[in-house]
Amino acid sequence: MSENINIAPEQAAPEKRKRIFSGVQPSGILTLGNYLGAIKNWVALQNDYDCLYCVVDLHAITVRQVPTDLRRRTLEGLALYVACGIDPEKSIMFVQSHVPSHAELAWVLGCYTGFGELSRMTQFKDKSQKHSDNINAGLFTYPVLMAADILLYQADLVPVGLDQKQHIEITRDVAQRFNGIYGDVFTIPEPYIPKTGMKINSLTDPTKKMSKSDPNPASFVAIIESRDETIRKIKRAVTDSDAVVRYAEGKDGINNLMTIYSSFTGKSFDEIEKEFDGKGYGDFKAAVGEVCADGLENVRAEYARIIKDKAYLEGIMKDGAEKALYLSKKTLSKVYKKVGFYAK
Ligand code: TRP
Repeated sequence: MSENINIAPEQAAPEKRKRIFSGVQPSGILTLGNYLGAIKNWVALQNDYDCLYCVVDLHAITVRQVPTDLRRRTLEGLALYVACGIDPEKSIMFVQSHVPSHAELAWVLGCYTGFGELSRMTQFKDKSQKHSDNINAGLFTYPVLMAADILLYQADLVPVGLDQKQHIEITRDVAQRFNGIYGDVFTIPEPYIPKTGMKINSLTDPTKKMSKSDPNPASFVAIIESRDETIRKIKRAVTDSDAVVRYAEGKDGINNLMTIYSSFTGKSFDEIEKEFDGKGYGDFKAAVGEVCADGLENVRAEYARIIKDKAYLEGIMKDGAEKALYLSKKTLSKVYKKVGFYAK
């Protein structure tokens, strides 16, 4: 009789794993900022969460792209995810435009998002200043598409850099509004912002975020460039005239290099200050360049190997899109039903 009662703990229903969604735009060559601020953390998360990692090409066309470049970078983006250690056996990797649910849900959510809310987005304000010749409606509704990305998969956590926090907030607002009207349709996601390495700044203007779309290649370390280039760029990084390696307000260049050094070595800012006590910026920059080049070496080697295998990468894309489509359809059908669309 007791056989029917005793359930070994390991046989009890396992707790549902939390889900993670994140994405990077294929709008430029991926940088150290993308690696330390996003992809490196994605790798660590895939053992404990069900993860979906997307190459968000629909978002990329909010700024004019050269079609052949966009196509190439989409494949390169996926190759880089794999080279960085995202395992296609563990995580779902896919290209956003391969899963029509994203555009479909974005339309619906757009009808539940206020014009005023979107007008307050700092990224919209920044980008419309930068691309004043092309302030298109897609740039304006960008956060709605991002909300669709996240909500389609009922993601619990969204690992992003600090600059994307406002987009997660609007996602939560829209989801809560929708749930308020129709019942619990969407999981309310939380931003997941890692402590260190969350924001790597430009090497030429350290008050700004390192950006892959910066026209000046000296401003960023590309994940795929040569060791020498990396070391040279860091050597030339803009600093200050204070000549003391110390993390402090106003020392944006040094703070940035210390963040990079800390991300690769795991050393705290205190430890770094001690290590370079009495030494000049030249020594410090050389050390940062070395750890950075060393830290990227494996990724670079893996990337060089994987990018040649187009069939393998296309297989991952196809498989990922199938899985993502299946998951996304569940949410989308629910939404269509809730808003009153006639079932086909
Ligand atoms: N907007 C993000 C960026 O520029 C990219 C992105 C699009 C994203 N959709 C997402 C990130 C969904 C996280 C979740 O960095």
